[in-house]
Amino acid sequence: MVYRYHDGTKHHFQRFARSLGYLDWASQPRPFRGFAEAPIFQLYPAPGVASDGYAPVRSTFDQVCELEISPAPISAAAIGDVLRHALGLSAWKVFKASRWALRVNPSSGNLHPTEAYVVCGALAELAGRPAVYHYAPDRHALELRCEFDDDGWRGAVGEREDVVLVALTSIHWREAWKYGERAFRYCQHDLGHAIAAVSIAAGLAGWRAALLPAWSQSAIAAATGIGRDEDFVDAEREEPACIMALTGAAPLECSRDAAERLAAAIARGRWSGRASQLSEDHVEWSFIDEAARATRDDGHDGTKGSTGSERSEGSKRSKGSERSERSERSKGSERSNRSKGSEGSRPIDARALLVQRRSAVALDGRSTIGRAAFVGMLSSVMAGARAPWPSVWWTPRVHLAIFVHRVDGVPPGLYLLLRDPDAFDRLRGACRADFLWEPADEHLPLLRLANGDTRSLAARLSCDQDIAADGFFSLGMLADFDASIEAFGPSFYRHLFWETGMVGQVLYLEAEAAGARATGIGCFFDDPVHDVLGLRGHTFQSLYHFTVGMPVDDARLTTEPGYPWG
Ligand SMILES: Cc1cc2nc3c(=O)[nH]c(=O)nc-3n(C[C@H](O)[C@H](O)[C@H](O)COP(=O)(O)O)c2cc1C
Repeated sequence: MVYRYHDGTKHHFQRFARSLGYLDWASQPRPFRGFAEAPIFQLYPAPGVASDGYAPVRSTFDQVCELEISPAPISAAAIGDVLRHALGLSAWKVFKASRWALRVNPSSGNLHPTEAYVVCGALAELAGRPAVYHYAPDRHALELRCEFDDDGWRGAVGEREDVVLVALTSIHWREAWKYGERAFRYCQHDLGHAIAAVSIAAGLAGWRAALLPAWSQSAIAAATGIGRDEDFVDAEREEPACIMALTGAAPLECSRDAAERLAAAIARGRWSGRASQLSEDHVEWSFIDEAARATRDDGHDGTKGSTGSERSEGSKRSKGSERSERSERSKGSERSNRSKGSEGSRPIDARALLVQRRSAVALDGRSTIGRAAFVGMLSSVMAGARAPWPSVWWTPRVHLAIFVHRVDGVPPGLYLLLRDPDAFDRLRGACRADFLWEPADEHLPLLRLANGDTRSLAARLSCDQDIAADGFFSLGMLADFDASIEAFGPSFYRHLFWETGMVGQVLYLEAEAAGARATGIGCFFDDPVHDVLGLRGHTFQSLYHFTVGMPVDDARLTTEPGYPWG
C-alpha cells in the first residue's frame, strides 16, 4: 500500500496527483484549533506573565544549535519561550481586506496541519499537577486538556525534574482541502519542519530534544486525548505523529512499556475541553486514510523490523554512543567553525533569526553566494551534534541532488551531497553511468555529477516554478527508499518525509543567517526527477525540493508582528 500511495500521488508532466482542482473557499479550514471550556494559561513572554525565575539567555543561533546554553529548570516560562520560537506566530500579512498569520514553522500552502501538545509534571504556574496541554499559537497559550496522577508521571520519568514532552499531531484535512491526495505527504513534511523547529528552539532553554520511537501512535493518541471521540464531536480528527522528550540533562530512556503505562495513566486522568470544528463541509480523501493506516507506527525499542545491518547499526549507536557523540561533536564544531569563518560564532541573535524565517515568494535571478557560505549551509544539514540532528534515532536516509546555479567558486552543474557517505556505492550503482562523481569539496561528501546550466531543468522539474532556477541553488531530496522501508517497515515512510522537512528547516534558517532566503518546494514532477538521475524502481525517491537565493519582496503586502507584544 505504501508504494501504491506513493506512486499514486506522484505529479506527472501530463497529470497532477488527484485533488479537487479548485479551491472551495466555503469549506476552507479555520487556521487555529481551540478546545472549548478548557482552562487557559497564557505563556511567557506575553506581557503580564511572570517569568518565575526563568532568565532567558541572549544567545546566538550557533550557540543554540550547538547546545552551548546551560539548561534552565523546567518552568512554564521556559516552555513558553521554546514554543514561541518553534511554533508561534511570526507575523501577520495584510493585503487589502485579507489578513493571515505566518508561523515560525513553515507549512505547505500555509495551511498548518500540525498541532502540538505538551505533557509535563506539576508546575505551579500551570495546572499544579502533571498535565497535558494543547498549544494555541494564535493566543500563545496552553489549553489544559487533562490532569493526571503524579504516580503516572513518575512511572515514566522517575525522579527526574528536567523532562517535558512535546507531542505533534496532524489534521490531514487542512492540507487535503487544497492538495487532495498528495496532502498526506505534505503533512509529513510539515511535521519534519516542526520537529526541527522544536529541536532547535529547545536549545534556547539549554534543553536537548529527542524523538521517542517507543511511543506507538495509539499511545500518542491516548496521551494527547485525540483518541477521545467525546471531545471531537463534529471536529476533524487528528492523526498522531510523534513525541519528543525535551531534557536538561541526559536523554530520557523510554521503553515501550513505560510509554504505554504513561499513556494509560493519562487516559485515566480528568479531561477538559472540546475540539473546535475547522470546516462545516469536507471532501473525503480515502486514499489518505488508507496511507495513514498502512504506515501506522506501533512503536519500538529502537531496532524494530531491522535487517541485520540495521540491527548492528542500532546497537553500535547505543553502545558506542559516548564515543561517537564525542567524535560527532568535534566534527560538528569543526563544521560550524568553517561555516562561521574565523570569527567564531556568527553574531546572530537566535530568537530574532527564528522569528524572521520566511519563504521567498520570488528570487532575484542574479545574486550569487560565496563558496564558503554554500559549503557552510550544506555542512549544517550533515548529521552530527548540531541541533536538530541529535533528535533523530536513525542514520541519515536522505541525500541531496543539488542544482548549482550561482555559487562563486563552484561551477554550475548537478551535484550530490551524501548525507551518509556509506550510501555512496549504492547511489553510484543506481544513478546514470555517465555521471562524473568528482569530489567537489575537501571536507564534505559533495560530488560533482555533471557540469552545465541546470536552471531551466530545475524549474521544469519543480512544477515550472521559477524559484527553482532563480536562486543560488535548488535541490531534490533523495530518500533511500526501498532499503529504509525494508529495514524499518512501512511506518518509516513517514520518517523519510520528516527527515526531508528537517533538512528543509535547517536550510531555511541557514539561508536567513546568510542574509538570503529559502523556500520549500512540495510541487515537483516525481519520476522526471528520477529520469534525470537515471534512477529506476524505488531504490531512491525524490521526496521534497528546496531552493535558496536572494528574495524579491512583494511590496503589495504589509507585515504586522505575530503578537501585539512582539
Ligand atoms: C512542505 C512544503 C512545501 C512547500 N511547497 C511550496 C511550493 O511548491 N511552492 C512555493 O512557492 N512554496 C512552497 N512552500 C512554501 C509555503 O507556501 C510557505 O511555507 C507558507 O506559505 C508559509 O509561509 P512562510 O514559510 O513564509 O511562513 C512549501 C512549504 C513547505 C513547508
